[in-house]
Amino acid sequence: MVNIRVARVEDLPGMQACNLHNLPENYTMKYYLFYLLSCPQLSYVAEDEGRIVGYILARMDDDDKDKADKEAMGHVVSLSVMRTYRRLGLAKRLMIQSQEAMAGVHGAASVMLHVRKSNRAAFSLYKDNLGFTVHDVEKGYYGDGEDAYVMRCSLKGSDASAAAVV
Ligand code: ACO
Repeated sequence: MVNIRVARVEDLPGMQACNLHNLPENYTMKYYLFYLLSCPQLSYVAEDEGRIVGYILARMDDDDKDKADKEAMGHVVSLSVMRTYRRLGLAKRLMIQSQEAMAGVHGAASVMLHVRKSNRAAFSLYKDNLGFTVHDVEKGYYGDGEDAYVMRCSLKGSDASAAAVV
């Protein structure tokens, strides 16, 4: 049975392996460690009998943290599920867990992410299942020159923001 739980430092090699299998954007261990330690409640893994079969790596956007009127925004850095575990709802569960923590722990009002224009599976997950909309297009965002959709979703009024006020 697949269990979703908060990611720990010892999960990082499994998360990195899952990333290498599934996405062209790969990161150094230092990068994973930085985000895991910066926002330890926002990253989750899907684990099946000790094996990491999916993960979400997330952080808070703090680019404008000195602006008092700026609402807190979560940022999904990377999401991936191993091929044989897809279409079981794992990515959706990972996203919801992280979004709940963004709102509940950090008071995030919204969440954003980048996704390749050609990534129909992820686009459908975000748009049709989780209520994201396209906020912008970043031309040539990826290393190979592909454009990214910048997608956003409000966390206000969601179960996630309800958790924030409890
Ligand atoms: N085609 C169309 N719609 C899809 C697909 C697909 N291949 N996969 C998921 N969806 C949509 C469906 O609406 C699905 O609901 P349904 O199964 O009831 O029809 C819904 O999303 C939920 O799907 P999940 O089962 O939760 O998604 P899954 O666990 O299979 O993971 C993911 C989806 C993460 C996109 C997976 O295919 C994957 O790892 N792909 C490679 C890596 C990747 O593209 N990651 C996202 C990059 S963007 C970023 O990291 C911010």
